[in-house]
Amino acid sequence: IDPRFIRNFSIIAHVDHGKSTLADRLLEATGTVSSREMREQYLDRMDLERERGITIKAQTVRLTYRAEDGNTYTLNLIDTPGHVDFVYEVSRSLAACEGALLVVDASQGVEAQTLANVYLALENDLEIIPVLNKIDLPQADPERVKAEIEEIIGLDASEAILASAKEGIGTKEILEAIVKKIPPPKGEPQGPLRALIFDSWFDPYLGVVVLIRVVDGRIYKGQKIKMMSTGKTFEVTKVGIFAPHPVEVESLSMGEVGFFAASIKEVRDTKIGDTVTEVDQPAATPLPGFREVKPMVFCGLFPVETAQYEALREAMEKLWLNDPAFSYEPETSEALGFGFRCGFLGLLHMEIVQERLEREFGLNLISTAPAVRYRITLNSGEEIYVDNPAKFPPRDRITQIEEPYIRADIYIPKEYIGPVVKLCEEKRGEQKEMRYISQGRVLLVYELPFAEVVLDFYDRLKSVSRGYASLDYEPIGYRPSDLVKLDIYINKQPVDALSAIVHRDKAYYRGRDLAAKLKEVIPRQLFEVVIQAAIGSRVIARERIPPLRKNVTAKCYGGDITRKRKLLEKQKEGKKRMKQFGRVEIPQEAFLAVLKI
Ligand code: GTP
Repeated sequence: IDPRFIRNFSIIAHVDHGKSTLADRLLEATGTVSSREMREQYLDRMDLERERGITIKAQTVRLTYRAEDGNTYTLNLIDTPGHVDFVYEVSRSLAACEGALLVVDASQGVEAQTLANVYLALENDLEIIPVLNKIDLPQADPERVKAEIEEIIGLDASEAILASAKEGIGTKEILEAIVKKIPPPKGEPQGPLRALIFDSWFDPYLGVVVLIRVVDGRIYKGQKIKMMSTGKTFEVTKVGIFAPHPVEVESLSMGEVGFFAASIKEVRDTKIGDTVTEVDQPAATPLPGFREVKPMVFCGLFPVETAQYEALREAMEKLWLNDPAFSYEPETSEALGFGFRCGFLGLLHMEIVQERLEREFGLNLISTAPAVRYRITLNSGEEIYVDNPAKFPPRDRITQIEEPYIRADIYIPKEYIGPVVKLCEEKRGEQKEMRYISQGRVLLVYELPFAEVVLDFYDRLKSVSRGYASLDYEPIGYRPSDLVKLDIYINKQPVDALSAIVHRDKAYYRGRDLAAKLKEVIPRQLFEVVIQAAIGSRVIARERIPPLRKNVTAKCYGGDITRKRKLLEKQKEGKKRMKQFGRVEIPQEAFLAVLKI
């Protein structure tokens, strides 16, 4: 394809501002998806995405558009997720584009991820086309939102397109703007092949499938290629594009986006961000690739059945290929046996990975409570990082503990300043800035310990602001903190997987609440169970679960058979996610109890 007629673009937006719906309209208007095939949020392919109504993985699709200038253009749309946990996906996709549609809900305005995504787009030198969506809503206020775009982002919004993705208003204008404003790709069509890997996944028939943007040269079936970071070579077996279904093509040349397969069996042989070149005429230097992302939230993942350990390891390898933002390494727990300590970008990311492992690989897992990574200075002067409360060194070997801090940008309507400030204070936050960004809307900037944010900050923020607050954050390094380790004993035995690191000021309440919560979630057993919370050797809370009477259904008065059945089924259901600890059965909820207090 003549690169002059290629446009590679992304759609960036805050969550729920209508990105996926707009993508649907573009697919329709270009005839990429027939009306018979069309369904809402077409590009959200994973069941998980459809159920939760969010985009998790970026998708690419090729559209063919005959523009008003009479030429036919190939538009590669790279859909991206909007949640803060998935910025990594966004930045990868943007590296494959020359432009981006910036979708802003005209009834809401600029939100935290609008801004975060715009910064990423600017970092990648993209041409940005502002689109004000949802103008069909009576409360839409395009003028106010245009002013916000100019004020907060500093982009010229005078030519912003007014659109309603729901009603198909503005679709044509958007397609024309893509063709006119976004520059065609630049590169060396004849040069040695350089293609950027921006996604990959495992296919049982093809082996590893690699999504690429060809920056220079050409890739074709039968070509001998080389991965520049490892030097491994392969022969290309298939080259294709998504339109939106996979279609095989002869080759992909400079500026094009598509996939290839090359009988790559080892997951570790492809690396997102790596450059593909050809063996016969190798490129001199690789493409810049991506910034490494560091996981910030950690938890243990253990198979409920010990026999599934190997299956879990294989599943993690495969999933990692599709999502290199998560990390894993083997871990052994006294309570839970063999498993993995995994790292994630945030809590939602953690939930999604666990759910994908279970659904896509048929595993049954137990996870421990999320924790952050602490920096500890030992008496010997040595500095270590610990992301597992169970592995904390004894207090008397520690000189200093530091915890990670973040800077949070919170956007809210002014009515909610009071409750949001109160929440941030409760979470040990320090206010850095408070600024009106338009009449009625405020930006609050706080520095907060990340551990507090991981716990339940986001949910609480949403609830105290009735869903109106939006949040973006970035790590700002470590700060010393007065932290202690809270241990949980069950029938006098310490349960390593239930330990938590907490601030000294809150340790007493946390311990008491945690013990009470555990009493609620651990089912009664045939013998008495005693739960204790302790700091060092000092017990700060104690709860007792009385032994069970023999017949569990006895408490169902009368002969209500359906109720009895329900109870029995519930017990069976519960069984699946129990871990035997000594004689006590501990359910999954117990390990996450610390999140619920
Ligand atoms: P993520 O995939 O989670 O990042 O969200 P998104 O930005 O893709 O938003 P999505 O397209 O899922 O739209 C969010 C909600 O807004 C859905 O309920 C849509 O039906 C609705 N919506 C999208 N566009 C419009 C519009 O133009 N007008 C109105 N009234 N509603 C819209």
